[in-house]
Amino acid sequence: MPLGLFLGGCIVAIPVVTGVAEGVSEQKKQNEEANNEERMIKFNLEVFCGARSPSKDQVHGTIVVLRHNKAWLCPQIPETHTPIPQVEGLSPPLHPFAGFYIQYPDDNRSPPQRGLVSTISDDPPMLNWLYADKETQEIKYGNRTASIEHLVGDWDWTEDHAGLLLEKWEGFVAVDEGEEGKDGLKWALYYDRYDDKLDKGNLVGGQEILEVSLERRVQSAEQQLKQMEEAEKKMQVKSSGGMSSQFTAPAAEAKRKAAAGKKN
Ligand SMILES: *[C@@H]1O[C@H](CO)[C@@H](O)[C@H](O)[C@H]1NC(C)=O
Repeated sequence: MPLGLFLGGCIVAIPVVTGVAEGVSEQKKQNEEANNEERMIKFNLEVFCGARSPSKDQVHGTIVVLRHNKAWLCPQIPETHTPIPQVEGLSPPLHPFAGFYIQYPDDNRSPPQRGLVSTISDDPPMLNWLYADKETQEIKYGNRTASIEHLVGDWDWTEDHAGLLLEKWEGFVAVDEGEEGKDGLKWALYYDRYDDKLDKGNLVGGQEILEVSLERRVQSAEQQLKQMEEAEKKMQVKSSGGMSSQFTAPAAEAKRKAAAGKKN
């Protein structure tokens, strides 16, 4: 046998074997993911900021709210974890991020990516995807059509499940977008994808940038059960960007489990 052919055989064979092994472990990962109910537990996001800056107090201890297609940091009432609007008479009221992890439906993403959804309003009840805009690096939300071109995952949690990760790290920053912010919202959430302080501030016109981490505050069992019931209703009322089939089964299952757990 000519040596070249022999080598050729090896070279072809190796990737095939590796490919199969990866396929199996990927499938295993996906099965684990689908069975991991903790991923479906809804949480809010609170902001931790350890930066040395006079502005730190405007950022540390705030809660993430969703408005105008973006994620913002907003002061909150510590006891109730409700956002404190900075201008009066907002309609609709400020809506805190309240979301969970679920696979992003896109056959062109291989392996599939773990997405993050949140309610964006209670009335009408709707869910949207969280994503980082690939140009501006703002954290935004939108339906599948709006998000698919952007960075939709992998979203994850830290080892202790307490912190939010995107692309395996806590690369989040808050940007002061000025007092003229929409509806009194001033600090916007960004993803510092290249760890360069948003291209040394060039992406945000030199506005102040503070490193933050986002802490998951898991909602109580009662809250979750209520949310599940609302989610089921919501599926009958309105689907957001064709997500209904993704949600009906897990929501019903989680609800059954929550109800069973309550009786014990
Ligand atoms: C998705 O969002 C875009 C705006 O980002 C909107 O134009 C479109 O109608 C929405 N699609 C659905 C199915 O809701």
